Amino acid sequence: MTGYLFTPGPLTTTDTVRQAMLEDWGSRDAAFIRLTREVREGIGAIAGAGESHTTVLMQGSGTFAVEAAIATLVGPEDRLLVVINGEYGRRIEKIAARLGKRVEALSFADTEAVDPTQLTEHLEARPGITHVAVVHLETTTGLLNPLEEIAKAVAAAGRRLILDSMAAFGAYAIDLQRLPCAAVVASSNKCLHGTPGIGFVVAEKALLAECAGQSPSVSLDLHDQWKGFEANGQWRFTPPTHILAALHRAITDHAAAGGASGRLATYGANAAKVTERMAALGIAPTLPEALRSSVILTFDSPDAPWFDFKALYDRLAAQGFRIYPGKLTATETFRIGCIGAIPPEGFDAMLDAFAAVIQGMKAPRAAE
Ligand SMILES: Cc1ncc(COP(=O)(O)O)c(C=O)c1O
Repeated sequence: MTGYLFTPGPLTTTDTVRQAMLEDWGSRDAAFIRLTREVREGIGAIAGAGESHTTVLMQGSGTFAVEAAIATLVGPEDRLLVVINGEYGRRIEKIAARLGKRVEALSFADTEAVDPTQLTEHLEARPGITHVAVVHLETTTGLLNPLEEIAKAVAAAGRRLILDSMAAFGAYAIDLQRLPCAAVVASSNKCLHGTPGIGFVVAEKALLAECAGQSPSVSLDLHDQWKGFEANGQWRFTPPTHILAALHRAITDHAAAGGASGRLATYGANAAKVTERMAALGIAPTLPEALRSSVILTFDSPDAPWFDFKALYDRLAAQGFRIYPGKLTATETFRIGCIGAIPPEGFDAMLDAFAAVIQGMKAPRAAE
């Protein structure tokens, strides 16, 4: 497929990342074992893992890593609180319930940030809660939750934090030497700009060590996967060799592009440009500025008879620009992803095409 993906992933990758997948690797070969170790170390460095945390790679998309984390880290005597303000929080609750974990939710509106004060009050009132799971950047809307305050609230209450940082990892910096967090979950194909197929969890070693035999699943067992890597550097089951090679390259490129702060600066410039051009068309962001991230933006669809998202999508896709539908249920919205290896000219071209399509929809005859 040619063109650009203005989506939250899979996203537009570079030729260098794609070319890294041209080689076939033997999964038990010393060179592949080294590649695996370097990817684990590279991710750990981005997370500030230090000596306290370790990176466990998982075959599959991000959800597989989330499920492995919940399955393994929440024990039969534990109780998980999922703090929810979007689809991905709801998914964690569903996963925990399906796994038979003791789980409850503290819910906010999808357009509202998680409130650390309410979280503190909830934890005070519910001493049985042992773990808290929260989404760092809710891709449902692009809302960035106040991570530092949330992590402080959870730590002050003496509970453990499991963070779904899928859409933020690699752009919004995390330093596990400072941030009290038991586990951070993310994947290859978002802000790291790799290809889809690997999820990972950067987890506290001391906690992992306590979790042997806790996962009801053989494949989604973070403890056993960790022990496998530690024993011989190999994956327990067939590894996604080409995807790992692409991720290895993507991590090198991530560092060369200035790491998380470099990525965030680029995404910030993209998001500012998109917001400005949408404003010129009378299209407003759904979230107030204080809650918006630079990874993905949600816009209110024009409430007018001429607006047709499917037609807009199709006309843009025909020109190689793929935007993203909205995920809110209460209002009509659409989303534009600001991540991936898209040059500024790519954003300009998409936004010019977007304006032309909107113009054509508003005044079909004049545009002919
Ligand atoms: C915040 C968040 N969590 C979890 C997921 C699930 O990841 P995947 O679709 O790779 O399974 C996503 C995917 O977009 C996400 O944005």
